[in-house]
Amino acid sequence: PVVSDPAAEARARAVPGRFRDQTVIVTGAASGIGRATAARILHEGGRVIAVDLSAEKLAELAAESESAELVTVPADVTDPEDIDRIVAAAGERIDGLANVAGINDDFSPAHEVSDEMWRRVFAVNVDGPLRLIRAVLPSMLAARSGRIVNVASEAALRGSAAGVAYTASKHAVVGITRNCAVMYAPHGIRVNAVAPGGVATGMAVAADSSEFGGGRVKDFLGMIPPIATADQLAASITFLLSDDGININGVVLPSDGGWSAQ
Ligand code: NAI
Repeated sequence: PVVSDPAAEARARAVPGRFRDQTVIVTGAASGIGRATAARILHEGGRVIAVDLSAEKLAELAAESESAELVTVPADVTDPEDIDRIVAAAGERIDGLANVAGINDDFSPAHEVSDEMWRRVFAVNVDGPLRLIRAVLPSMLAARSGRIVNVASEAALRGSAAGVAYTASKHAVVGITRNCAVMYAPHGIRVNAVAPGGVATGMAVAADSSEFGGGRVKDFLGMIPPIATADQLAASITFLLSDDGININGVVLPSDGGWSAQ
């Protein structure tokens, strides 16, 4: 069942002190899974660099959290200059990066997808996360420590009924995750991904009502197990970002209540 008070959920599940003295960049932090992840890290004593396109919704997060450890950075992850601003706001030491921002507003199959839509989906879902990873690595390599979590999707594990651009972009996220895990394991840096099933966020609702969604998302979300809350995804992301995930590297962790096991 979906719980309607994400702030209360984040407080209730928090592991006190788990992110003490750590700085974590969270993209897509103004809503949905990113917002729940930012809230969770703040509750667990971390400093969060919260990144999103929406300055307005970031301000809501700041008002809600009332935390001195929250730094909001309105930014577009597809803009290289914004990537520099994000990393500058974090300071010299960056312990973690959660690449959560993503878009899924086109359900076009291959014979209908436009070049423009393909490029847009890849710019946000693939180029953005890669650029941020590249930008935080110098700090992590210098410290010989770091944790990166990318948000993939059940659409990264199979063909899925999502659009071809979204499905391919999330497969690319898996490729980046596995490659970086292997390349940087010797340097004390872990890189993992979570693959959410259905999550009750604005994205799921928007996708369903789109021209190509045509109600199929509702069918998908109606399957058992039930749709997850954003904080349930935040629980998986913070597990991998924290020392609880110390021996886990290069995995694509389904966080879907068992959906992908069917
Ligand atoms: P959401 O739409 O609620 O939140 C996404 C956030 O990313 C928004 O606040 C948006 O402003 C931000 N964003 C979009 N483009 C951006 C850009 N260029 N630069 C900076 N910020 C940008 O979506 P939700 O559901 O929280 O999605 C988060 C991630 O989870 C996405 O990567 C999505 O693909 C993935 N996911 C979501 C599922 C779901 O059922 N909701 C299922 C599987 C994966």
